[in-house]
Amino acid sequence: MTDKRRPIVAGNWKMNTTLRDARELATALREPLAGLDGVDSVLCPPFVYLIAAGEVIEQSNVALGAQNCHVESKGAFTGEVSPAMLVDVGCRYVILGHSERRRLLKEDDALIRRKLESAVAHGLVPIVCTGENLAENEAGRTTEVVGGQLRAALHGLGGLLGDDAGAKLVVAYEPVWAIGTGRPATAQDAGATIGSIRRTLVELLGEAAAAAVRIQYGGSVTPANAAELFAQPEIDGALVGGASLKAPDFFAICRAAAAAGL
Ligand code: 13P
Repeated sequence: MTDKRRPIVAGNWKMNTTLRDARELATALREPLAGLDGVDSVLCPPFVYLIAAGEVIEQSNVALGAQNCHVESKGAFTGEVSPAMLVDVGCRYVILGHSERRRLLKEDDALIRRKLESAVAHGLVPIVCTGENLAENEAGRTTEVVGGQLRAALHGLGGLLGDDAGAKLVVAYEPVWAIGTGRPATAQDAGATIGSIRRTLVELLGEAAAAAVRIQYGGSVTPANAAELFAQPEIDGALVGGASLKAPDFFAICRAAAAAGL
């Protein structure tokens, strides 16, 4: 992590927790995270628990994020949730293009690109996910796949993001084979791929904007491996799944990020 970028750790709760769990988890994190300087922390509960978790962390230094959104602001889209609604309930961030949505819900690059543009236009900060699957990794295609996802997601958005891209966009690198497997990428490999992502950002957004965008690593991040990952100069934080459901573990990962950023 470099001193130019403030680390950011987001907890992607995925389709987990009950209403009660969501309140308890947010409550257990609010006070400890209030005492932690030097890291942006984000909780991303399921849609139906956003308001409850948001009430707990209101007026704190912990931000609220959603796990997805629709492209349009409102209208006849049964079952969908709009970026305007997310802003309305206090979200600052939205995860877009997660590999589970790409793979299981068939979201393609073009849709993710449209969602991203809409999210930014509504004032949300998208956490755009990229990552190769195992076959792509084994074929040595990681940089190509991840670069292609990023180019597709950001195509033509340089103007919208402007010089302020660092404040308007977060990128996550999550190798699919590392998600939920207990088998993270090595810190060196993650750092190298994230370095390649930053070079792609330079192409797309220019040097200064690319240098300001935070890039997270995600995939089996735990308190045990966080410090080593964050020691990589290109890794600016983490997108955490399983470990974000345990308050002490998520806090420990945030603390490691804050320590690495100092
Ligand atoms: P795990 O931390 O459970 O591997 O999940 C990572 C992830 O997909 C976060 O978005």
